Amino acid sequence: MKKILVTGGTGYIGSHTVVELQEAGYEPIIIDDLSNSYIEVVDNIQSITGKRPAFEKTDLKDREATMEVFSRHNEIEAIIHFAALKAVGESVEKPIEYYKNNINSLIHLLEAMKLYNIDHFVFSSSCTVYGEPDELPVNEEAPVKKASSPYGNTKQISEEIIQDYIIPNSGKNFISLRYFNPIGAHPSAKIGELPTGIPNNLVPFITQTAIGIRDQLKVFGNDYNTPDGTAIRDYINVVDLARAHVVAIDRLLSGKNRSAFEVFNLGTGSGNSVLEIINTFEKATGKKINYTITGRREGDVEKVYADTSYANEELGWRAEKGLEETLLSAWKWEQKYRSEHT
Ligand code: UD1
Repeated sequence: MKKILVTGGTGYIGSHTVVELQEAGYEPIIIDDLSNSYIEVVDNIQSITGKRPAFEKTDLKDREATMEVFSRHNEIEAIIHFAALKAVGESVEKPIEYYKNNINSLIHLLEAMKLYNIDHFVFSSSCTVYGEPDELPVNEEAPVKKASSPYGNTKQISEEIIQDYIIPNSGKNFISLRYFNPIGAHPSAKIGELPTGIPNNLVPFITQTAIGIRDQLKVFGNDYNTPDGTAIRDYINVVDLARAHVVAIDRLLSGKNRSAFEVFNLGTGSGNSVLEIINTFEKATGKKINYTITGRREGDVEKVYADTSYANEELGWRAEKGLEETLLSAWKWEQKYRSEHT
């Protein structure tokens, strides 16, 4: 079985990807410092797939500790790098922490690739690199805009570091996956999104409001130039997103990539407004959401959704799950998790 090192493998997207890798016959090895996830996730992965992934509690900022993990696991074929700090607002408050964490982790992994002869790497990037796009849907050729937060900047800088790295390091191959807005949970409801503290993202805030942890959802702005005035995003099911990582790994390992650095948008290709998400959630679950309209959130873009044709054609992958099904999966996860943790 081919070994794939998954950093951030107990996190939200990471855990769903570990499940898909196992089901595709790969052997994922998780590195995570558990700074924003829980060790129980490893049990939950095992309970879905029947296989327990190897787990290493390691902080990737610690170069020595990181190298030590690589020295103990022979024949790692590829790295999927999810581990990162990802709260946009917090990154404005703590820029150094964000740069230190997100950039140093990447650099240590690139060094490890060289030292341990690992040729393949999948990077977690974000549609945030497009800023407010000039044309919609946005394709991979669209210009990278000045980042609106240190978090967004770490994604841009990371893509640049990778592109510099491949010049003198021939034989190393990278795929950068630019995620739009991942939502939902595994259909088993055994893994899902688990934000610590008050959620920043829309869907966990909705599910926590529906279950009574939060009193009221704030809709950030209804004066955007969109049909109902609220901002538009491309919400993609996390399992669809996870599957794309398996496809990217297959592509790299079989040498089907067209260049040493490839970029793909991962979205559904269509956008939904905040109010559409609330209405669809209410329809899918029968739960009413208490919400109020407030001012815009700083740094938010008006609308962004993906042109996915390149990913669809080149990867032979597309997002399959519908919005209702996806929002229902998020709700099932919230209910199951809370019923087991009260
Ligand atoms: C943001 C980042 C994205 C990052 C992601 C990870 C930007 C432009 N986007 O996505 O790069 O990968 O977080 O965490 O920086 N909303 C509300 N009320 C809420 C929460 C959100 O109305 O309580 C609205 C937002 O204004 C936005 C939409 O819901 O219009 C989605 O917000 P969110 O889930 O936070 O994702 P993004 O901001 O799109």
